[in-house]
Amino acid sequence: MNKTKAAIAGLALAVSTVVAQAGEVEVLHYWTSGGEAKSVGVLKDLLTKEGHSWKDFAVAGGAGEAAMTVLKSRAVSGNPPAAAQMKGLDIQEWADLGFLANLDGVAKKAGWDDLLPKVVSDIMKYENEYVAVPVNVHRVNWLWANPAAFEKAGVKVPTTWAEMIASGPKLKAAGIIPLAHGGQAWQDATLFEAVALGMGGSEFYNKAFVKHDDATLRSPKMVEIFKTFKQTRDLIDADSPGRDWNIATSMVINGKAAMQIMGDWAKGEFTAAGKEPGKDFVCAPAPQTEHQYTFNIDSFALFNLKSKDAVEAQETLARLIMEPKFQETFNLNKGSIPVRQGMDETPFDSCAKASMASFSSTAKSGDLVPSFAHGMATTSSAAGAISDVVTNFFNSDQSAEEAVTKLANSVKASL
Ligand code: BGC
Repeated sequence: MNKTKAAIAGLALAVSTVVAQAGEVEVLHYWTSGGEAKSVGVLKDLLTKEGHSWKDFAVAGGAGEAAMTVLKSRAVSGNPPAAAQMKGLDIQEWADLGFLANLDGVAKKAGWDDLLPKVVSDIMKYENEYVAVPVNVHRVNWLWANPAAFEKAGVKVPTTWAEMIASGPKLKAAGIIPLAHGGQAWQDATLFEAVALGMGGSEFYNKAFVKHDDATLRSPKMVEIFKTFKQTRDLIDADSPGRDWNIATSMVINGKAAMQIMGDWAKGEFTAAGKEPGKDFVCAPAPQTEHQYTFNIDSFALFNLKSKDAVEAQETLARLIMEPKFQETFNLNKGSIPVRQGMDETPFDSCAKASMASFSSTAKSGDLVPSFAHGMATTSSAAGAISDVVTNFFNSDQSAEEAVTKLANSVKASL
């Protein structure tokens, strides 16, 4: 190569590097199951259409525990991604440390305050300004059932915890695993919080898991809840330890198991498998929680970056997330409902419509409660303390009384 050619090649390389880096958004997320990957693909396509590029940084692991560990180490080493899935009180903690970019300009321009329920915008703001953008609303207190499996065993889909426990022997006799469950701490906590909400009610739930009232944590009601929770173990197969949530969902999809207690990201798996609600599967409120709604809101926070192009790409990402097109397509795939209010409900299925109706009625009745198992109710240290007690109890022969004492003591220590 002669000198001029080499110089041009060098220049081209430099230009192409600039172009490739300009407008690139590295996105840390934990959406790796079939339905989740389809959903995140929607955002990637929209961003790419706007001329920016998406650098995927997916860290597998349900509920994002592994992703949050990776995020911390990247941030501590001074190299955070441009955007990361982050939610609940974590947003406040990161903003307080000074890591997060201010999104208030984007939010004001698009009128987010008028498009979001206050319960959501409060979570997205730090010192009254937006530092995160919400994606969706997931309802956590769902029961997913395979109607054919119930029919085969001659039992109805349970509406109380006692009915659920009583359905076990008949389902087993028909060769069906009653409850599909993955033995991972966050899945144990998801099941536990449904039992606690159903048996204790919304006020009890809030007192225990949001306000951490000591008397409620030590109450006879809590002992009863732990006892019932332990009984659900008999419904679970021996292979559950370590099983991922979406594998448990696939057991319900193929009729190996009858039901699963899981948030409506599970519906994303049914949808991705081409299954229809009301026909191939049934969504019902988790037992005794028909008039309650445990919410879990996914959101993204953007990290402070210096380059103008990178900031522009980040802000485009934030703007796109709140636009109707993304809100509709993403949520149809994800199983959740749009967080943006005033959206057309027509394209959504019966489970999503039920979730929408319940979200607004529970917001009025006081039965809209934050999920502690999914980082919405309390600090990560208190949530971690609760979840440790719950999972240790579920996987040992500890008594309910012992667990309740441990629960109250470790919540106190975590505050
Ligand atoms: C998240 C969902 C995700 C699920 C399984 C939840 O905590 O909010 O978006 O699909 O965990 O990873």
